[in-house]
Amino acid sequence: MPIAVRSFAKINIGLRIGPPREDGYHELRTIYQTISLHDVVRVDLTRGAGIEINCKDPRVPSDESNTCWRVADRVLRSLKTRGKVRITIEKGLPVQGGLGAASSNAIAVMLGMERALKRQLAPEERLRIAAEVGSDLPLFLVGGTVLGTGRGEQVYPLDDLPSFHCVVATPSTGVSTPAAFAAWDKQAGDNAKLTGPSPSDRMNTFSHSVYEWLSGSSFSPTGVPSKGWDRAEALLLDLVRTGMENDFERVVFPMCPAIRQVKRSLEREGAKYVSLSGSGSSVFGLFAQRLGEIDVPARSAVTLPRTRYWKEMFRDRVIG
Ligand code: C5P
Repeated sequence: MPIAVRSFAKINIGLRIGPPREDGYHELRTIYQTISLHDVVRVDLTRGAGIEINCKDPRVPSDESNTCWRVADRVLRSLKTRGKVRITIEKGLPVQGGLGAASSNAIAVMLGMERALKRQLAPEERLRIAAEVGSDLPLFLVGGTVLGTGRGEQVYPLDDLPSFHCVVATPSTGVSTPAAFAAWDKQAGDNAKLTGPSPSDRMNTFSHSVYEWLSGSSFSPTGVPSKGWDRAEALLLDLVRTGMENDFERVVFPMCPAIRQVKRSLEREGAKYVSLSGSGSSVFGLFAQRLGEIDVPARSAVTLPRTRYWKEMFRDRVIG
């Protein structure tokens, strides 16, 4: 029997890009948050050899360039096992949408293979393989609210935020991540000629914003710990107040004005906090309360705290 794994998406709440490093990557600071939108990944291990990937979406590669393939290969080697790995991906998430779908699929394969083989990799080996295959994979080994540093692959679980209602709109304009980083470098080079905060100051202020955001919102103005809707509302208002943004907006919006329009539409629909996710093209809006019909083609979801992320991953029930 194949193992079915729900492969959840992520959004980025704030993303700051540092200067390019010697290895060509950029230093990053971001808060990842897992959400309920997902693909379903089925993993089957039989006798034989080879890694086979099936997906009805022709944009998903079935060869070694697929992150699922690269993880499956490493898991087999690390567990010193042979066998034929058959992976089926049922797409629910956009391809190249900034929601981490390919990275999440790859972690689903890792965890599905462990289940199928009834063996587990050591936690540090899981992380090593994940980070080797891509910067956005390790966050899916944590789930919930996660601080990302380094090139995004160094992950730290944060206290979970309350569950927010979330809508995600993905304009059809695809955005290439390397192209967005290149555009950022060009813009940063131009700005350096003007006087602005140094790149290292910009990185440091991210931690100030996160501190300012997360240290204030557990309490109501009377100093009484607030819960439920009150806390969600207070957190979103504080998030807006800190001015935390995704740096990619500054280069992606000028390149694709249609994406900026989608952000404006979600703001008009009453979302408390709206942002591009990763390098796009998805834009998400967070709400403290469930919202009714909106006029923007978007999918509604909820943010997934850590316990729920892990509980729903292997469960059969369909979630909203
Ligand atoms: O790590 P991943 O394979 O997802 O990265 C894809 C590309 O995005 C890299 O080859 C690099 O060009 C760019 N990148 C970057 N800095 C990061 C993450 C990714 O420049 N922190």
